[in-house]
Amino acid sequence: MKPEKAKTASSNLIAASYGASVFDDLSAIWQKCMARHLRKVMARETVVLNWKEPVDTIAEAEAFLAPGGVGEQSEQERAGKFEALLEKMLSSGQNLHHPRYIGHQVPASNPVAGLFDAVGSLTNQPMAIYEMGPWATAVEHAVTRSLCRKVGWNPDTSCGVLTHGGSLANLTALLTARNVVFPGSWEVGLPQNVVLVVHADSHYCMNRSAGILGLGTRHVVKAALDDRRRMDPSRLNELLLEQKAAGRKVMAVCASACATPIGAFDPLQQVAKVCRDHDVWLHVDAAHGGAALMSRTHRHLLDGIDMADSVVWDAHKMLFVPALCAAVLYRNHAHRFQTFQQDAPYLFDPSNPGMAEFDNGTRTIECTKRSTGFGLWGIWALYGEQLFEQMVDRTFALAEYFCNCLVEADDFEVLHTPECNIVVFQYLPKSLRDGSTADVGRLQQELRSRLVKSGEFYIVQTNLNGRAALRVTLMNPLTTEQDLTALLDELRSIGQDILSKQP
Ligand SMILES: Cc1ncc(COP(=O)(O)O)c(C=O)c1O
Repeated sequence: MKPEKAKTASSNLIAASYGASVFDDLSAIWQKCMARHLRKVMARETVVLNWKEPVDTIAEAEAFLAPGGVGEQSEQERAGKFEALLEKMLSSGQNLHHPRYIGHQVPASNPVAGLFDAVGSLTNQPMAIYEMGPWATAVEHAVTRSLCRKVGWNPDTSCGVLTHGGSLANLTALLTARNVVFPGSWEVGLPQNVVLVVHADSHYCMNRSAGILGLGTRHVVKAALDDRRRMDPSRLNELLLEQKAAGRKVMAVCASACATPIGAFDPLQQVAKVCRDHDVWLHVDAAHGGAALMSRTHRHLLDGIDMADSVVWDAHKMLFVPALCAAVLYRNHAHRFQTFQQDAPYLFDPSNPGMAEFDNGTRTIECTKRSTGFGLWGIWALYGEQLFEQMVDRTFALAEYFCNCLVEADDFEVLHTPECNIVVFQYLPKSLRDGSTADVGRLQQELRSRLVKSGEFYIVQTNLNGRAALRVTLMNPLTTEQDLTALLDELRSIGQDILSKQP
């Protein structure tokens, strides 16, 4: 580092943060830190979760933001501090890339997708209109067209947008359904007696959407499930007949592919047929399971999805790209402008209406929107769609392996037959087989808490039919069968310790 650079560093902070050579120096440090971190995490040389109480982590983070600034610093000192800040970030988080992170439905994102995604962060290509981010917009159109094709639709007669997450995507799709099913509701609100029919295990964002859309959460009707927690088509038919007889109008039926609790896939062909018989909008929340469409082995789980009116598919779940990248897809291209009716002449040029087709801000809640598609487009282009197939097949196979281990073990109980990469189970040694639901539940909670705080593994807890249980989602293709047997050993060891200390 040249001495004259060191002199100017603290006096001109704009030069010290925007200078091309500053970027050269700091990005080299960044590359070194990130590569070292990922290598360590993937090799299991770190804990999974760096657990500390939230008040302590907030205080630590705030201490870096000293009022009054950071004082005089040479460029060399600043580079050292940059590295220390990165190390702080990297050593204080959740290590999703650790093969023993087997928790929430958030993946060990593909590192190469992260590199493509970082291009958007660095060059800042937000896109409300085409001109603001021409390549980001092109990428968004390209990936949504390709996802439509995977659903089984002609990309010229279907359409889609990317948005910031599955919750916002579901809200967007249901807003479109509301406006199409009840014309004029954008201006005058909803008519009386409208209901939304949802899978009884649907994600909470459905209920939230009903609140936001002015429908009211009390007007959400749960469709009954079969013994595998899938929407039951014949009972859906009865439900729709009942709603009609009671004078209620159905805004949409929301099916799941798959539903969050145990990953159950609705029988979409039959559900779609019922919806068509009743002339009702079918929305499929395929936020998690949409990726099975990439797999020749598993795509049958979504048979019938092409009959849906709208579909949500999160790429930041099972397409393994960094959060957030969620697609809202419509079977009918004509629905693309029915989500919103905004008037913003400074953005959407009325003298050039043709461009509206490419100004994505007309179709999403966001105005300024991150270039969310770069990661997905990048790895799709670089490796081909077979990469997604391999990641889906690998993680689904790991779940099957784990389920078999649970079935074979006499001190665990698996609470369902997994259809994808979500498995719900209990630690249930013989001594507790006749224990009360509450006692068994308390054991699962304590087990999970001790396991997670140890940093050895990360799993989550849930409640299924009133039974507290443990839940894993296999979202890292680098997790091995040995990691899963080690998880059972660790749970056993902690469980036995807890039980041995009970009076
Ligand atoms: C089926 C389903 N839909 C929607 C969501 C919400 O997605 P997001 O967390 O991206 O808002 C989830 C999240 O797990 C989900 O499992």
